[in-house]
Amino acid sequence: MIVAGNWKMFHGPDPDALAARLAGVTGVDAIVCPPYTSLARCVEAGLTTYAQNVHWENEGAYTGEISPSLLLGLGVAGSLVGHSERRLYFGETDAGVARRAQAALQAGLGVIACVGETQEERDSGDMETVLRIQVDAIRDACGPHLRLVIAYEPVWAIGTGRTATPEMAQEAHAFIKSLLDRPVLYGGSVKPDNADELMSQPDVDGALVGGASLDIESFASICQAAAARAEGPKQSDTTEGLA
Ligand code: PGA
Repeated sequence: MIVAGNWKMFHGPDPDALAARLAGVTGVDAIVCPPYTSLARCVEAGLTTYAQNVHWENEGAYTGEISPSLLLGLGVAGSLVGHSERRLYFGETDAGVARRAQAALQAGLGVIACVGETQEERDSGDMETVLRIQVDAIRDACGPHLRLVIAYEPVWAIGTGRTATPEMAQEAHAFIKSLLDRPVLYGGSVKPDNADELMSQPDVDGALVGGASLDIESFASICQAAAARAEGPKQSDTTEGLA
């Protein structure tokens, strides 16, 4: 199980205090994705640290971008790519996202590549088409790379307090895995009180947490829920056990 905290453009918690709190939580890969200015502090605190984005070139005239080698030089372990806020507000395309993911993996970074449909796309019955286009672009560029993880984040659930039901998440995750056989995290209004139910689904391999990752206790409690699920039964195990 993997739980990643996306701090977005917020200062976020104190890295040392967070690291101390997470030291007591075992059995889960906890990752933080702070703003660029806090990357070094998080690495120094001993946290597994990812950037929120990464460019495909190692250097060049790309104002405002950050390269895989610059991140590696800081001790950063990986990066998010393709977050819906990047796609929505900064014009990132499937081709660009795939290029970023491929370059980062090739450089030795881990990658959490985000996909997800809008409310409009879901309502018009296009969820699978949209997911297929987004995942195919990543798969064609990267294949089932061992350091690649997918995050399913329905756009309508991000920062809205509206979460996909566990069944909706399971359905989307199973579909994504049929296209690309890698772990899939769920993201979109994950909180301590819904994390366990979401992660009980057989194809939910962890969470990408936004708002709730800014608070040490709520992030730690989501990590704890993931750790318990990693040890205990998933819904499919229980069903098999009963059969
Ligand atoms: P949220 O954000 O948990 O605040 O909905 C999730 C994300 O954007 O990664």
